[in-house]
Amino acid sequence: MKTYSMVVAALGAVALVSGSLAQEPGTPDGIQSEQSLASRYPYVVQDALRLCKPAKGFWVDLGSGKGPVAMALVEATGNPVVMVDPNEEALAEGLAAARAKGLADRLVAVVGRAEQLPFPDRTVDLVVSRGSIFFWDDPAKGLQEVYRVLRPGGKAYLGGGAGSGYPAAEVEKLIALRKARLKGDEAEKWKRFVELRRPEQMVYWARQAGLPEFEVLGKGAISADDPRVGQGVWLRFEKKQ
Ligand SMILES: C[S@@+](CC[C@H](N)C(=O)[O-])C[C@H]1O[C@@H](n2cnc3c(N)ncnc32)[C@H](O)[C@@H]1O
Repeated sequence: MKTYSMVVAALGAVALVSGSLAQEPGTPDGIQSEQSLASRYPYVVQDALRLCKPAKGFWVDLGSGKGPVAMALVEATGNPVVMVDPNEEALAEGLAAARAKGLADRLVAVVGRAEQLPFPDRTVDLVVSRGSIFFWDDPAKGLQEVYRVLRPGGKAYLGGGAGSGYPAAEVEKLIALRKARLKGDEAEKWKRFVELRRPEQMVYWARQAGLPEFEVLGKGAISADDPRVGQGVWLRFEKKQ
């Protein structure tokens, strides 16, 4: 029998549901310099909402880190969001940031992993996950878990990237940064970063997970010389009614 370590109940208050802290492998250092670019999160959220048209209800930001996607979702819709991440410190920072932004009554955090989601079957209306699946120990198992927790009619949107509406000038800067990184000291790490974001990789994980239907959007991080580098790759699926 499966046990669920924690189920979020009260969405009326910011709360951290504790568990074990696990340090995750970091993204390459170049990500830091990308923080100076315009925020990508509102654009990611616009895409997620446009492509998924989720019912209001139980929404999850999986691999939320400090919750930038969760906060952008709350700001765009007012619907509460549950952040899930193995990194307890990141969640705590996210909750503090949410409080400072006046979003304290819309965000909840749960320490957990994609591979063993702490939610019952068929309960979640929307799972959004940005920049996280590439770090999961077992992406196929994580996708099975996402499918398990979705309600009939529930939607999932997982991947990485800037969002299709991200301003062209910022995309240019992002591409320039990525190109530099692919030739810099951490070139090997960045090559792996690009490799993991190929659409074919996403299709492989989705098939491995046995998802009955899915769609892969975006071209991935491609290569340093491709003008589409940085625009991302996304997996969208739903549980049929
Ligand atoms: C690059 S950060 C992305 C954070 C945030 N979603 C964003 O878009 O800025 C990757 C996140 O995935 C989390 N993560 C790593 N392994 C995970 C797993 N197995 N299940 C869920 N989240 C995981 C990490 O702790 C980290 O917070």
